[in-house]
Amino acid sequence: MNEYSERRNRFMEQMEDNSLALLFSGDEIQKSEDEAYPFAVNRNFYYLSGIDKAGMVLALSKFNGVRSSRMFILPYDEFWAKWVGGRMREEEVKKISEVDSVANVNDLDDYVASLYNNARYYGGLKVYLDLWKYTFEQSDSKAIRYAKKLVANYVNTKVIDAYPILCEMRMVKDEKEVAKILKAIDITRSGVYAMMRNVKPKMNEMVMEGIFNFSLAQRGCNTNAFKTIAASGKRATILHYSDNNCVMEDGELFLCDLGATYDHYCADISRTFPVNGKFTARQKEIYKVVLGAQKVVENNARPGVTTRDLNQKVIDYYKEELPKLGLNGDVSEYYFHGVSHHLGLDVHDVDIRGSKLKKGNVITNEPGLYIEKEGIGIRIEDDLLITDDGCINLAKDFLHDPDEIERFMNK
Ligand code: GLY
Ligand code: MN
Ligand code: MN
Repeated sequence: MNEYSERRNRFMEQMEDNSLALLFSGDEIQKSEDEAYPFAVNRNFYYLSGIDKAGMVLALSKFNGVRSSRMFILPYDEFWAKWVGGRMREEEVKKISEVDSVANVNDLDDYVASLYNNARYYGGLKVYLDLWKYTFEQSDSKAIRYAKKLVANYVNTKVIDAYPILCEMRMVKDEKEVAKILKAIDITRSGVYAMMRNVKPKMNEMVMEGIFNFSLAQRGCNTNAFKTIAASGKRATILHYSDNNCVMEDGELFLCDLGATYDHYCADISRTFPVNGKFTARQKEIYKVVLGAQKVVENNARPGVTTRDLNQKVIDYYKEELPKLGLNGDVSEYYFHGVSHHLGLDVHDVDIRGSKLKKGNVITNEPGLYIEKEGIGIRIEDDLLITDDGCINLAKDFLHDPDEIERFMNK
């Protein structure tokens, strides 16, 4: 049994009896004639199947306690294969996902109709769907459109959001998932080190982004975990700056916040270093305070605490430290984001807000200080694995110390 069938079993254990779960891989979104936007597979579908192709539907059923899994796929198309490559065939789908059976996606509605007939005796069909929506106006996903279609055709349908079960499962990473995050961090490190080695005044931020992506490609990775932030000078005080199109000047700091992916698992790393290879005394003293904040989080991250608790520890620490840097006033003038979020298949991964950390969670550790009037933005971000009684820094071998960074940049 591979990890995908093991996860499906755990999911189906938690499904109510006489129910069906439908997970849609998603569709390619057309950009213009003959071109689609890059496809991003639905993460819950991938988590339960290991497949990252468009147009598929994973159906998990549970009737009288009997469980089965069936993957509905687009039929193989010889003509299409000549244009964009072959679709996945039945044998490959079975090999990767270990589903019980594979069927044509055009037969999905008939399959669902047959289950409705079986379920009549039990008062109708309960259907689990991934009803994720981030904003009110966001257009409906395929799962939401299908939920509407089911309710329109079978008025006694009970639609259940699959998210609570999947969220709890995905928050606790298994060994294979941690190994993939570690690989993503390792690839990211190569990219950041290439930036450190090549940066110089008058270079454009976009060249730094290009160096990072080139290094990822050399390691076989062509997908970023999120849009790279490559910000020098005062642009580093904009948290999610991603224009990456300005010239970097002598004496400025450069902040990058970026990540490679490995099998869709994300790294989320930030590093800040001097464009000319040497921190000023002022830059170094501020940098050291941010590094101290990272240590505060690392020393306190353990089962039972919340990410909000960790953030409060950072704020308390800054309250002590910022006046020593001549930064008076409220901490929120210089630090105005959370220190941590969960990390996994998504860079801001699924999360039960306010929940206590558990062994197997992977979270970020990303304190920063943003001093616009001095043109200084510093963020240092690592990724932590929560253990029985503390945490392991998955990015511990990734340069942190400012003196070591200078030595590395000037070697
Ligand atoms: N890369 C966005 C973040 O660190 O949360
Ligand atoms: Mn980040
Ligand atoms: Mn982050």
